[in-house]
Amino acid sequence: STGQSDARGALIVLEGLDRSGKTSQSARLLSHLNSLGYAVESWRFPDRDTAVGKMISSYLTNQSQLDDHTIHLLFSANRWEKRSLMEAKLKSGTSLIVDRYSYSGVAFSSAKGLDIEWCKAPEVGLLAPDLVMYLNIPPEKAAERGGYGGERYEQLEFQKSVAKYYEMLSDPSWKIIDACLPLEDVEKQMKEIVLDCVVSCQKGKPLTHLWL
Ligand code: TMP
Repeated sequence: STGQSDARGALIVLEGLDRSGKTSQSARLLSHLNSLGYAVESWRFPDRDTAVGKMISSYLTNQSQLDDHTIHLLFSANRWEKRSLMEAKLKSGTSLIVDRYSYSGVAFSSAKGLDIEWCKAPEVGLLAPDLVMYLNIPPEKAAERGGYGGERYEQLEFQKSVAKYYEMLSDPSWKIIDACLPLEDVEKQMKEIVLDCVVSCQKGKPLTHLWL
């Protein structure tokens, strides 16, 4: 051990449109940090394994209908039900690579026409990420990638609107990654950014809360 037993883990969030490559990059980052000896887990939202997550999954696959506000709050509740575990993991030194977080929650619901401040409200008090990496891809290009799987939000016009809301939400601390580059180039960029973040959290960067 390095003697840094009180060093906390980093909360790293990947955001982007559907088919922007978040899931494959999460897996690559996970194995990279693992190979360097860091304690790390890969998480995703929605977490479809919980009771709330099952309702979300049923909605996304068009097996159930829900009012837009209701599904928004379920997505948020799905993050709240994982919050204490998230904090415990980070405090015990485990870094988390999280595929989608509150920004997906706000961008997707706002794109449906819900008020952006109303969308942010239930996210207040969740842990703030130490790093947000946005995989930037034109909606048209994302749509060309192996096709959408047919879930509720996987439609070009809707994704275009989501992209606008992501842009509104983004702040200068976000790392914007060109997701049109070859997978390996994207991976290389992300590895460097992630490692910097993990190191700064180890050194005592404080854990903060949304909304920032
Ligand atoms: P996934 O494909 O990453 O599992 O996400 C499922 C869909 O849910 C995706 O289209 C984005 C959307 N979504 C929301 O609308 N709100 C949220 O809070 C999250 C996490 C995802």
